[in-house]
Amino acid sequence: MELIKEDDGLEPVSPSGQYLNSKVMSVSILGILELEIPIDDSQAMSFFRDIFLPINPRFSSIMVTGEKGARKWKKVGVNMENHVHVPSFSSPKGSSSPSENDSFLKSYISQIAMQPFPQGQPLWEIHIIKCPTSEAQETLIFKLHHALGDGYSLVAALLSCLQRADDPSLPVTSPSVKKFSSANKDDRNIGLRKVVSRCFSPLVNTVRDFGWSLLKSTCVKDDLSPIRSGSESLQPYSVSTITFSLDQIKEIKSRLRVTVNDVISGVIFLATRLYMQRVSTNSNLSTNSTALVLLNTRNLRDYKPVRDMVRPNSESPWGNHFAFLHVPIPKVKPSDSQFSDPLKFVHKTHEVIKRKRSSFGVILTGKLLEIMQKCRNAEYLQAVAKHISRTARNSSMGISNVIGPIHKLSLANHPLRGVYFTVAGIPWNLLITIFSYAGNLRVAVGAEQGFIDSELYNHSLLDAFDMILRDACQKQ
Ligand SMILES: *[C@@H]1O[C@H](CO)[C@@H](O)[C@H](O)[C@H]1NC(C)=O
Ligand SMILES: *[C@@H]1O[C@H](CO)[C@@H](O)[C@H](O)[C@H]1NC(C)=O
Ligand SMILES: *[C@@H]1O[C@H](CO)[C@@H](O)[C@H](O)[C@H]1NC(C)=O
Ligand SMILES: *[C@@H]1O[C@H](CO)[C@@H](O)[C@H](O)[C@H]1NC(C)=O
Ligand SMILES: *[C@@H]1O[C@H](CO)[C@@H](O)[C@H](O)[C@H]1NC(C)=O
Repeated sequence: MELIKEDDGLEPVSPSGQYLNSKVMSVSILGILELEIPIDDSQAMSFFRDIFLPINPRFSSIMVTGEKGARKWKKVGVNMENHVHVPSFSSPKGSSSPSENDSFLKSYISQIAMQPFPQGQPLWEIHIIKCPTSEAQETLIFKLHHALGDGYSLVAALLSCLQRADDPSLPVTSPSVKKFSSANKDDRNIGLRKVVSRCFSPLVNTVRDFGWSLLKSTCVKDDLSPIRSGSESLQPYSVSTITFSLDQIKEIKSRLRVTVNDVISGVIFLATRLYMQRVSTNSNLSTNSTALVLLNTRNLRDYKPVRDMVRPNSESPWGNHFAFLHVPIPKVKPSDSQFSDPLKFVHKTHEVIKRKRSSFGVILTGKLLEIMQKCRNAEYLQAVAKHISRTARNSSMGISNVIGPIHKLSLANHPLRGVYFTVAGIPWNLLITIFSYAGNLRVAVGAEQGFIDSELYNHSLLDAFDMILRDACQKQ
């Protein structure tokens, strides 16, 4: 990393930005946009240069190390050619089936997910895949370093440069995002959180050490299982996606009186136990397996325009604001190999999330992360990075849910058929990322190659959804 002497006036890198881009961990977000019609290169370039780049000064800055070892963002000139990649793809003669193009895209995504960013230039890349797949005419991949911002900031950035496909003059809308990202009438948390932060802020230093050990002791290692290999290193993974109808999910939600989040988490948990059973008939279905659910800890109800987020002292600041919630995957008794009660997975998940989210624990975890973020000691931040990566390794899977726009959008008059995202650089064997867009919920399954059978997991997800839908609709 570049060392600089005169660092006056440079914007400091937030602590989370530092630990998300450290020796221990380097996390990036891949946003995949599926275009209905091809985009021509000059049009794409001017969009990236004139609309995408100016969104945030961090898109044209690099991380440098200042005088006292503190990391800063330094503005640099951006050479677009270094950031925009158009890979060539030539299908073997004779057979150019959609599935061949699909697997080209899939392996391309796996490949760029593993590649580190060159550190001498701003931490983003765009890849234009000019080959028709079964989902799109062309695919744009935005690879953005997590140090630039969290899912929320990056979605806000994305929304700010798109228009509604039906009428570009109308504002882009997203469903309101309540605290902790899912629809929950229970606002008690917010009040409690305020009280907690008011009580604790003068005690930051004492709480820090106390909380540190508390966090450590709350989680033990999960059992090894068909979804947890226990391997320490980052392995290549592949991403496949499944689309569910948001209307059907809402139907289940209202019949069971739970949240959309509970339904989708329940489906994922049932799918995971089904997968364990299918991958090996004598799998233990009562293993201690937990999912680490990433929650947004912003206090907001809606996406704010990006120009408000980058303003100093903004109430919804640009950056990284998230907390972890440990949710155990419900166990299945050996006597219940038929999965007689699929809805149990939704109800159990609902109970756990409701209990945890209103408990002191999650608030404290969020608060602790915040406190850690205020602390700029480099060694301490390395420890935070280690802690987060160990927390991830001790759990069995990750789930991250980002609420997207309601309406169909277009990018420079190119309608987007679908949008999904994935996260690279966290050592999970299985990572599920969920994005809602124009009436659909796109579930992306990031599965470690050679360890998870992604086709089998895929089928388990579809079956789990059908089982839960069927049983929910039979109610009443
Ligand atoms: C696959 O991609 C190639 C190269 O871009 C293209 O010529 C071909 O038509 C595509 N195949 C299908 C089935 O879309
Ligand atoms: C991971 O699990 C080990 C073994 O149970 C435990 O000692 C350690 O504290 C855990 N670390 C974290 C960060 O959860
Ligand atoms: C299955 O895993 C649980 C939790 O680790 C353990 O208590 C139980 O003995 C295991 N059952 C079998 C049959 O191995
Ligand atoms: C599994 O978790 C339970 C608590 O949820 C704990 O009592 C038990 O010791 C754990 N078993 C193993 C094998 O880690
Ligand atoms: C997963 O299922 C979807 C929908 O049926 C299908 O389009 C996709 O090809 C499947 N992917 C894999 C890896 O099996």
